[in-house]
Amino acid sequence: MTDPRPARRLHMITWGCQMNVYDSGRMADVLAPLGYVPTAVPDDADMVILNTCHIRDRAAEKVFSELGRLRLLKQARAEAGQGMVLAVAGCVAQAEGAEILARAPYVDIVLGPQTYHKLPEMVARASRAAGAVIETDFPVEDKFDHLPDAAAPQGLTAFLTIQEGCDKFCSFCVVPYTRGAEASRPAAAVLAEARRLVAQGSREITLLGQNVNAWHGAGPDGQPARFGQLVRWLAEVPGLDRIRYTTSHPRDMDDELIAAHGEVAALMPFLHLPVQSGSDRMLTAMNRRHTAADYLRIVEKLRLARPDIALSSDFIVGHPGETEADFQATLDLIREVRFASAFSFKYSPRPGTPAAGAAGQVAEDVKDRRLQELQALLREQQTEFNAACAGRTMDVLVTGPGRRPGQIGGRSPWLQPVHMAGPQSLIGRIVTVQIAAGHTNSLTATLIEELAGA
Ligand code: 5AD
Ligand code: SF4
Repeated sequence: MTDPRPARRLHMITWGCQMNVYDSGRMADVLAPLGYVPTAVPDDADMVILNTCHIRDRAAEKVFSELGRLRLLKQARAEAGQGMVLAVAGCVAQAEGAEILARAPYVDIVLGPQTYHKLPEMVARASRAAGAVIETDFPVEDKFDHLPDAAAPQGLTAFLTIQEGCDKFCSFCVVPYTRGAEASRPAAAVLAEARRLVAQGSREITLLGQNVNAWHGAGPDGQPARFGQLVRWLAEVPGLDRIRYTTSHPRDMDDELIAAHGEVAALMPFLHLPVQSGSDRMLTAMNRRHTAADYLRIVEKLRLARPDIALSSDFIVGHPGETEADFQATLDLIREVRFASAFSFKYSPRPGTPAAGAAGQVAEDVKDRRLQELQALLREQQTEFNAACAGRTMDVLVTGPGRRPGQIGGRSPWLQPVHMAGPQSLIGRIVTVQIAAGHTNSLTATLIEELAGA
């Protein structure tokens, strides 16, 4: 049977984190029943959604300049008798909804991350109404309940949101304001989505949440459960070979979760655990609620439980009040932990957050210098970690063709990209390889044998 509705075209522009990429997918999913199909260019789009991120510098300005371009397209389409619904979603929408409508009145819909399930209703209202529709409140009901099952298969490696929001209120961060309070999805829903992803071909799932290890919710038996237990339940899903999770907070790294790292084979030995700073003075100013010693103790326990675990982190240099001694304490912590990879940022004020108005803002050139020094050390550690893999054997999930003809590529348990000669028929398999060489951002390998076949 053919669908009587003509296809409407949806163009999405996504900035920011994996959570935003995932959210864009879910927005496309909720719009699919209205007949929206994705299009790669905005020119022929009936609807354009900008899914924005507030974390990076000048985020709002990038959104406004993109909106300026889209305004011309929207005008051209209107002159040709065609409409274009223009929506701004994500964290910039949440934080600056009113300003968007003031500066860009041709925007039809502004919606915050908690309200994506209302998108179809808002599209309907926008196409009828003359005025714009704004929806950035945090609803009381659980937003996860309203989302249809994720429709599109995600491939061999998939993302699954299990938790949203944050109650930690770090001094520098907008997430608690833009994403709202912490909310966890019930275990039964998480497990059902994991089973569906595996049935659609996924072998590796990364659990997502702004504070993913703060997950707590009803277990399948209705009893309250914590994240370590959820990981164990997920590990029982047949065909789910690899489990990862991001992003975690040290405060929620409890003993149950640490034990799971030692006992759950499917839980990959790589953990992104942001510390932000190695100075207790700064950690207090940042309202992180942990000390450098707390962090080191967690790392020690993790390494006891899982000796080959590798760590990654986020760092901020130049938070208000940061002295040279504070910065040196961060370098000391990095030298002590030894990170396999990391993200690092210059502090940049976010309106409405406590640090933005704090005394002791650090000069830009000082931040620049500290960031360069920090990144040089982190790059050195990453290169060393990769180089130390040479000669080792490890399992690689083959995810696609490699860079050159005759090559395939995949990822190691430690999330390193791995390239090797091999037939395309191995895509989707977990194979054992010997690492030939480690580079700054990837590994090259030789195929030894195929593991866990099918
Ligand atoms: N300035 C610089 N970096 C920030 N991050 C969050 N907010 C800011 C800010 N205002 C960084 C933190 C966080 C990562 C996602 O982005 O390190 O862990
Ligand atoms: Fe932001 Fe993470 Fe701190 Fe929450 S824990 S406020 S998301 S930096």
